Amino acid sequence: MHPAPIGVAGAVMRAAVLRALGEPPCCEEVAEPHLEEGEEVVQVTACPLTNLDRARAAGTHFSAPAKLPAVCGSALAAGRLPDGTRVLFRSPGGTMAERAVTRHGWCSPIPEGVDDALAAAVQNPGVSAWNALEWRAKLQPGESVLVLGATGVAGQIAVQVAKHLGAGRVVAAGRNPRVLAGLPALGADATVQLDQPDDALRRALRDAAGPADFDVVLDYLWGRPTEVFISTLGFADMELRFSRTRLVQIGVMASPTLNLSAEVLRSSGLEIVGSGTGNAPPAEVLARELGQVLDLLAGGRLRMEVNRVPLTRVRHVWDLDQQGHRTVLIP
Ligand SMILES: NC(=O)c1ccc[n+]([C@@H]2O[C@H](COP(=O)([O-])OP(=O)(O)OC[C@H]3O[C@@H](n4cnc5c(N)ncnc54)[C@H](OP(=O)(O)O)[C@@H]3O)[C@@H](O)[C@H]2O)c1
Repeated sequence: MHPAPIGVAGAVMRAAVLRALGEPPCCEEVAEPHLEEGEEVVQVTACPLTNLDRARAAGTHFSAPAKLPAVCGSALAAGRLPDGTRVLFRSPGGTMAERAVTRHGWCSPIPEGVDDALAAAVQNPGVSAWNALEWRAKLQPGESVLVLGATGVAGQIAVQVAKHLGAGRVVAAGRNPRVLAGLPALGADATVQLDQPDDALRRALRDAAGPADFDVVLDYLWGRPTEVFISTLGFADMELRFSRTRLVQIGVMASPTLNLSAEVLRSSGLEIVGSGTGNAPPAEVLARELGQVLDLLAGGRLRMEVNRVPLTRVRHVWDLDQQGHRTVLIP
């Protein structure tokens, strides 16, 4: 987010403006973006509304704006460069606006046949799932994967990317029964209903894992579901054995913290790493991952649902549960 000069005389455009942390942004008029050396203006065509945008506007994310008012929109958005090229672009400022600033080299072309809204929506969950599996977990062909929070937009994409990267068994865990029921069609070999008592959930996760522990866990939730999962690991004996479960922490939809037993770390092969901006791969790896995600989308091998909403309605849709769909704002 970047400070928005509100009420400045001269050319104006519409943008999603945040005036107070904890309040939803409103669609207001702000000054057109000011270009610095090496920057160009993009006509924005589609901008996804992500949980990161919500957390930053709520003031609960470490990157929440220090200065207000600010234009929202932190994810890559879709737009047109002045020469007409359709691109996904990063911006040093907010992207939920009619126009935004980008820098040379901060754009990737959108492949022919891929819709702007889908391209913009798939980038964040697609690249982050790819990154978590390939770069952080070092997934090997045939390994088993558990997705905690598989009913969210990112979790549904993660199930599909895990299969594409050669995972053997993929187990999808979530609450929303409608979305959970659709996950086998996206590649899940089994599903686990998360909202059941701890003991029943523990048994369901153990049964879903089969005889060995999961090799890789993608965790979009943290908190109670992750605590229950971790309690399925570990052995109550002193036998020497080797096991390994790489848990990749990606999101905190259930809680920002959890209780972690020291015993389970000594009596199991649990390894916990995070996947986010502090441990990102080099730019060329991220660019390759984005290209692969867009290729899957273009080939019809990656599915996601988007709700296109006019930017003018940003305030009304800001806090809506997306029920497995991604809201994409159209300026
Ligand atoms: N680190 C990264 O690079 C990165 C990238 C993408 C996303 N993320 C993060 O990953 C998380 C998920 O993102 P998303 O786009 O998939 O969100 P989303 O589409 O809004 O889905 C939210 C998910 O969280 C579940 N959920 C919410 N509260 C829960 C609770 N108390 N207990 C159990 N499940 C709960 C929902 O379950 P039901 O729908 O079944 O109720 C749904 O599966 C967010 O925290 C997001 O910021 C991080």
